[in-house]
Amino acid sequence: MKVKLKRVFQCQSCGYISPKWTGRCPDCGAWNSFVEETVEETKAEKKVLSEIVQPVSISLIEVTLSDRFSTGIAELDRVLGGGVVKGSLILIGGDPGIGKSTLLLQTSYNLSINYGKVLYVSGEESLTQIKLRAERLGIASDEILLLSETLVERILECAKEIQPVVLIVDSIQTVYTEEAVSAPGSVTQIRETATKLMNFAKTTGTAVFLIGHVTKEGAIAGPRVLEHLVDTVLYFEGDRGYAYRILRSVKNRFGPTNEIGVFEMTSQGLTEVENPSLIFLSEHGASSGSAITATIEGTRAILTEIQALVAPTQFGMPRRNFIGVDYNRVNLLIAVLEKRGRVNLAGADIFVNVVGGLKITEPASDLAVISAIVSSFRDIPLPERTVIFGEVGLSGEVRAISQPELRLKEAYRIGMNQAIIPKGNFERIKENYNLNIKGVSSINELLEIICS
Ligand code: TYD
Ligand code: MG
Repeated sequence: MKVKLKRVFQCQSCGYISPKWTGRCPDCGAWNSFVEETVEETKAEKKVLSEIVQPVSISLIEVTLSDRFSTGIAELDRVLGGGVVKGSLILIGGDPGIGKSTLLLQTSYNLSINYGKVLYVSGEESLTQIKLRAERLGIASDEILLLSETLVERILECAKEIQPVVLIVDSIQTVYTEEAVSAPGSVTQIRETATKLMNFAKTTGTAVFLIGHVTKEGAIAGPRVLEHLVDTVLYFEGDRGYAYRILRSVKNRFGPTNEIGVFEMTSQGLTEVENPSLIFLSEHGASSGSAITATIEGTRAILTEIQALVAPTQFGMPRRNFIGVDYNRVNLLIAVLEKRGRVNLAGADIFVNVVGGLKITEPASDLAVISAIVSSFRDIPLPERTVIFGEVGLSGEVRAISQPELRLKEAYRIGMNQAIIPKGNFERIKENYNLNIKGVSSINELLEIICS
C-alpha cells in the first residue's frame, strides 16, 4: 500500500483538521491553536470489526466488580475513588516540578511491594535521574522496572513481556507511534499513542497511569481528546512556592469527581496531610478581614480561611485582585454589597486571597467572602471561631446550600463554636452540632451580626 503524505493544519486542542491555517478553531473555539502537521492520506483497508471481536452479552448479575489496588497512599486512594481500578487509564496533569513524577514513583514502590511488578517508563528523565530521585525517597525494590523509551510500540512490547500490574508513562507528550508521521507531542501523536495504551489497559487488565504536561492556561497540553479518552483525570493544584499540593479529580468513571487529596512536599517526597482543614487555617488570628468558611470538596468538608484587604485607592482606578476565588463572582458580590448592603466600596482597592493555595469554586463561600470584605473595610474582626457559609443572590438574599450538616460537623471537629448559615438551612437542620448557630436570610442580617 503506497502511503501518501499530506500537509494539513490541526487544532492542538481538539484535533480538528483544516486545509488552511485559521486563527480560531471552528470546532472547539480555541484561539491560535492550529499547527501544521503531516498526516497520511490513505484509505487503509480497515478490518471489519465483527471479525475481530465476537460480541457476547452477559447478565447484569454476572458482571463482576473490578478489583482495586490500594496505592498505599490514602489521599491518592480517595481521589481515585477507593484505589486504582484494574485496567483503567488514569491521567495526571500538573505544572512542571509540582511533584507528578515523585508521586508516581512513591506509588510504584507501594504497589510493587503489595501486588507485583510495576513498569515505569520515562521519556523525560534518564535512568540515573530516576535512581537519584528514588534514593532521595528511600525507595529500593526489585519489582520496579525502569524503561527509558519513547516509542509506544516498543513500550507495549516490553509491557506484554513483563506483565506488570501497573504501567506508568512519564509523560504522554514524549511518547510517539511509528504509525503517525507528525512530531511527538502533537495532537495526532497523543491521540494515537493514548489509544494504543488504552487498548493495552483494557485487554490486559493493567492499570495505566499517564503523566501529562499542562499549558500556561492550566489545561493538559495538547488535546482535549485525551481527557475524553481516559477513565480518570487528576490535576495537581497549588503553587510551587507553597509546600502544599492539592490533587483533584476532575473526571472519574470510578468515583466521585472534585475529590481532593492534600499533600506536603518534604525532603522525603510527598507526605499525606491527614487533616487538611488545619493547614488552611493554621495561622488564623483574630484580625480584621479574615473569615472562615467550609467548602465541600468531593465527599468531605474542608475549612478554609478567606482573607480580604480593603484599602483606599491611591491612583484613580481601584485595584481588584483575587486569588483562589472566581474573579467575576467576587465582583458580583462587591456590587451586591454596595447596592443592597449600602457599603460604599467605590474608592477602595480590594484584595481577596484563599489561604493555603486552595481554589474555591463553590458559591457557598459567598457569605464568607462578603464577611471578610466588610470586616476589612470597617476594620472590625469577625466573631472568633465562627464558620460562615451561604450563597448570596443578586437581591442580597442568602440562599440555602447543600450538605450543611457535613460542614457543621467539620467545623465543630476543628474547634469552631459558632456558625452563621443561611436561614433556609437553619430551619431544616435537626441538631446544633454543639455550635451556636445563627441563620441569616439576607446580607443585611449578616451585617447586623458582624458589625454590632
Ligand atoms: P517532580 O516529581 O520531578 O515534578 P514533575 O514530575 O511534576 O515535574 O518534582 C520535583 C520537585 O519536587 C523538585 O522541585 C524537587 C522537589 N522534591 C522535593 O522537594 N523532595 C523530594 O523528595 C523530591 C523527590 C522532590
Ligand atoms: Mg516529571
